[in-house]
Amino acid sequence: MPFVWMKLVLLNLFGFWNTDVVVFGSVNLALNKPTRQTSEYGGGRFSFKAVDGNLSTHNLDCSHTTYPTDTPNWLMVDLKVEYEITSINVLNRPGDAGDKLRNFTVSVWQYDPGPHIKYNMVDTEYCICVHYPNTAERATWTNLTCTKICMGRFVLFILNYQEILSICELEIFGDIYNGCSTQYLPEMNIKKVEGKRSSSPNCPPLPYEVTNVYECIHQCLQMNNCISFNYGPNLINSVNCQLVRCFSHPKEDFTVDSDWNWRYLSR
Ligand SMILES: *[C@@H]1O[C@H](CO)[C@@H](O)[C@H](O)[C@H]1NC(C)=O
Ligand SMILES: *[C@@H]1O[C@H](CO)[C@@H](O)[C@H](O)[C@H]1NC(C)=O
Ligand SMILES: *[C@@H]1O[C@H](CO)[C@@H](O)[C@H](O)[C@H]1NC(C)=O
Repeated sequence: MPFVWMKLVLLNLFGFWNTDVVVFGSVNLALNKPTRQTSEYGGGRFSFKAVDGNLSTHNLDCSHTTYPTDTPNWLMVDLKVEYEITSINVLNRPGDAGDKLRNFTVSVWQYDPGPHIKYNMVDTEYCICVHYPNTAERATWTNLTCTKICMGRFVLFILNYQEILSICELEIFGDIYNGCSTQYLPEMNIKKVEGKRSSSPNCPPLPYEVTNVYECIHQCLQMNNCISFNYGPNLINSVNCQLVRCFSHPKEDFTVDSDWNWRYLSR
């Protein structure tokens, strides 16, 4: 009973409550959510074109990256809260351009994957919803059920080879993560990567002196663009908490540093 109540409160909070039947799995979670892609091709073919609900397959109505360099091409959707992702649908371009949509992987992350994206990633930090080795059919939908249910907030659509990524529409389905209960102690919400600190030039760390890790986490939660933080058990020049705020896709990732631990929020 408390669980049901919790679910209703959550649904109200996120505006999906409907007095008849809550058919959560059929709501496209990606619609109009924040997005990012590796690069911008230009002509207004921004990443949000993949989640704008416009099902036109004209190339100006689709997202479009430029050629990749050292990282694979990707498009990411930030669902804003955690879900249990169950399936995705992707609408492909017509013509020759449609053949570029092949050999892709859709993964689900609990934190912003930006700094971690590279070829041949090891899947210890994220959950693979589906890997599609084939070429998607031109000018139509490829609808895929996740091979396992993935819990997380960020959905990453990645091409596993060097090619432009262009998506006319990406739909994401799942259920709200209803783990909002006392079974999760605060400690379990902070994942720790020991002996490393985030040091991306695009994400200037904001230094703080705090009395414990919870104060650092509290600061991060209150700060716009704070995606994670570095926390060190000992003060270094009056600093033991660095909030990592990213304003664009972080290029460089981590520095090995035994005095610090990188942490991110997660259930
Ligand atoms: C999709 O977007 C294009 C360009 O803005 C617009 O011309 C077209 O009417 C839209 N299509 C739909 C179905 O909304
Ligand atoms: C998909 O890409 C990966 C990584 O480049 C490669 O190892 C694999 O052979 C590709 N699979 C297909 C079916 O092209
Ligand atoms: C695939 O998804 C699209 C978009 O939601 C939908 O219109 C279409 O009916 C689906 N196709 C199949 C075969 O389920």
